[in-house]
Amino acid sequence: MQRILIDTDPGVDDALAILFAMLSPELHIEAITTVCGNVSVEQATQNLFTIFGLLDLNEYPVIAQGEAQPLVKPLVTATHVHGDDGLGNTNYLINADDNPVYIPADIDPSSLSGVDLILEMAARYPDDLIIVALGPLTNLAKAIRKDPTKMQRLRRIVMMGGAFEAYGNVTTTAEFNIFVDPHAAHEVFQFGVPIHIVPLDATHQVVLTGERLHAEIENREDTVSCFLWDATQACMEFYRQRVGFWGLHIHDALPIGMLTHPEYFESVDANVQVETTSKLTNGMTVADLRPERRPRNPNAHVCIKVATEAFLDIFFERLQ
Ligand code: BDR
Ligand code: CA
Repeated sequence: MQRILIDTDPGVDDALAILFAMLSPELHIEAITTVCGNVSVEQATQNLFTIFGLLDLNEYPVIAQGEAQPLVKPLVTATHVHGDDGLGNTNYLINADDNPVYIPADIDPSSLSGVDLILEMAARYPDDLIIVALGPLTNLAKAIRKDPTKMQRLRRIVMMGGAFEAYGNVTTTAEFNIFVDPHAAHEVFQFGVPIHIVPLDATHQVVLTGERLHAEIENREDTVSCFLWDATQACMEFYRQRVGFWGLHIHDALPIGMLTHPEYFESVDANVQVETTSKLTNGMTVADLRPERRPRNPNAHVCIKVATEAFLDIFFERLQ
């Protein structure tokens, strides 16, 4: 069993990742912290309540709201991809009796800030806690600034972010999570705890098509299945118009799969650097992944390959 803290900006694919993690016995979610990114941090926290409300649980992980702005840049959101509420507008769906279709869980967040909850968890589980970062790295960078000694005792950071041999998804060279807060990403990569990064190079290998999703949830009426369909429709429409297929990449689910089924993922050691100053390539992640150029002092393991079908099978198995 692996002890994890998820740092997230839900986000449709974040929601799928959180459900996947909560339904995976290999993982124990000690805490979840929210961060600004796909949506404002307040909306991100609200979305976490909606996600928790989908599952009938007696106990929830402790949650705390994190940073509302990136370290330096003004916030850029992705509501054009994820819907105005970040969850494909599922928060706005109303039943015939005028009640929300997806009722948020009624729980109180921690009185700690996201940064302080990260530090408390790092101190409580030294050398054991894995942080799974599914959004911009602002909370992590601030936690490192505030108490590097505690953060040095993380077991590792597993993150979705970056693009190396693939094009970016915000600009030609930058992936969203790094683009939103490149300064934070730079500080995290310089810090020296083990990092596993799942970039677009890997997440683009997994396409959840509308047809596959339809086939998986056909004849199912449980809340999670209905949510899977409702939450992904706006996103799939975006992909249909802008990318050319009816489906979506479920980026943030991949780091969860990497923890539950590491054998489905292939990574290489690399020295990852983040561009923070250039206007043209701001937020670009740079590393030489060629086998003959392996670095002597790598700061990260970069995922380059995923067993796509095996991954999707386990994803759907867990979400049933
Ligand atoms: C990343 O950006 C966000 O929009 C997604 O949630 C994911 O974390 C993909 O580039
Ligand atoms: Ca995300």
